[in-house]
Amino acid sequence: MSVLAKILDTLADRTLVPGYSKFGYRLRRRSWEPLAADALRGKRALVTGANSGLGKATAAGLAELGATVHLVVRNVERGEAAREEIAKSFPEAELYVDQCDVSSMDSVRAFAAGFLAKHDAADILVHNAGRHRIAARFRETDGTVAAGREAGRRHDDLAGRIG
Ligand SMILES: NC(=O)c1ccc[n+]([C@@H]2O[C@H](COP(=O)([O-])OP(=O)(O)OC[C@H]3O[C@@H](n4cnc5c(N)ncnc54)[C@H](OP(=O)(O)O)[C@@H]3O)[C@@H](O)[C@H]2O)c1
Repeated sequence: MSVLAKILDTLADRTLVPGYSKFGYRLRRRSWEPLAADALRGKRALVTGANSGLGKATAAGLAELGATVHLVVRNVERGEAAREEIAKSFPEAELYVDQCDVSSMDSVRAFAAGFLAKHDAADILVHNAGRHRIAARFRETDGTVAAGREAGRRHDDLAGRIG
């Protein structure tokens, strides 16, 4: 990244709202290097909350670059619908739907154990699933309600287990 691009990136960061809008994207993309079509071939990627929104778009982007992608979702039916949609755009992609409710420590543990029984580790983990919304209505399976910052700890725990 050139010095000018770094300065513009910092300015966009400080302005917050425009910096994270389409304006910020268009400004920053000018300094991005193009990636090879198969830049992530042989890599295994996990995206939490991949059945909609930014998570689904991220999963599709990783698949486009050749990664094997696990759509880590709490609702398998919606996850399958997302997988089919991504597969239509990238028929060669290796896509899996895995169930995990990242607001539940039990679910995170069960998912990590199941994943590690089949795979050595993940190369890429995208913590996308409703990080802010989970914090507002966070409940353990034993009924205790955890503090907001616990939502981040679930993601960190997942990373520690499969990384
Ligand atoms: N959009 C923005 O402008 C923006 C800006 C800054 C940060 N973010 C962050 O980026 C992330 C994605 O944003 P988005 O706009 O794409 O949100 P979204 O459309 O609400 O997508 C959230 C995804 O997370 C899943 N999810 C929610 N709780 C979950 C749980 N406990 N376990 C597993 N999956 C869960 C949802 O699945 P269900 O279908 O099962 O609900 C959904 O697929 C969020 O963390 C958000 O805070 C977004």
